[in-house]
Amino acid sequence: MTAQLIQGKQVSDTIRVQIKEKAAELAARGITPGLAVVLVGDDPASRVYVGSKEKACIQLGFYSEVHRLQADTSQEELLQLIDKLNKQSTIHGILVQLPLPKHIDEKAVIDAISVEKDVDGFHPFSVGNLVIGDDSLLPCTPAGVIELIKHSGIDIAGKHAVVIGRSNIVGKPVAMLLLREHATVTICHSRTADMQSIAKTADILVVAIGRAKAIGRDFVKPGAVVIDVGINRLSDGKLAGDVDFDDVLEVAGYVTPVPGGVGPMTITMLMQNTMKAAEMANK
Ligand code: GUN
Repeated sequence: MTAQLIQGKQVSDTIRVQIKEKAAELAARGITPGLAVVLVGDDPASRVYVGSKEKACIQLGFYSEVHRLQADTSQEELLQLIDKLNKQSTIHGILVQLPLPKHIDEKAVIDAISVEKDVDGFHPFSVGNLVIGDDSLLPCTPAGVIELIKHSGIDIAGKHAVVIGRSNIVGKPVAMLLLREHATVTICHSRTADMQSIAKTADILVVAIGRAKAIGRDFVKPGAVVIDVGINRLSDGKLAGDVDFDDVLEVAGYVTPVPGGVGPMTITMLMQNTMKAAEMANK
């Protein structure tokens, strides 16, 4: 058996067409969704991500501001910028690119972003709303995972979903979203005993551990849906997911490639959140 590929780029393109249509409706009412991205320092990967976000804004006709700050910017200066962006009416979404330099308290920065503009969905209020099930801005990568599964015509309700990884950015929120979609959810992590046996019972397996090719066919039930959130740079410069793609391809029913799976969805979900924030601000 060879698994079907879940092509994130295609799903992402479809959703971007819908976003563009909605943006045109907003434009007719004189509203342009606005996103501010803040980058502190010059981490090469972060610079690439920030550039892609800027490009997506241009493609969709959004207003965009990118604040590139020196690595030695003080926490106070960063908090002052966030305060200004919180009050700025042309800005509906604020994203502070992580990780931040060590001298800045990440939590203090995330807490300072107005919940209405928290397009990353990282603020404690946004996380609370996610758990309660309230309509809020959802974290982008987890929301992208759910969209990918749904767009592939896969029913989530009643399925056993196993999430490997318990980060605040992916593992925990994706587990909550799967629960909201009525899956039975198990979260595995570095201390889980016999993870392989648990993973093998999954109808839907989501992997977000940040270790290249760590999950092979021994972790996959035949026919399972495998969603690989990992993006790892190999020593030869190539990208690889957390899943051993070639190995799993022969066992799984569906699998996401890296690159081209979950990756393209994240920025699209960010754009969707920015538009939603703009709609909410103009209700
Ligand atoms: N760094 C890596 N991924 C992300 C993300 O989704 N949001 C932010 N703010 N920073 C990141």
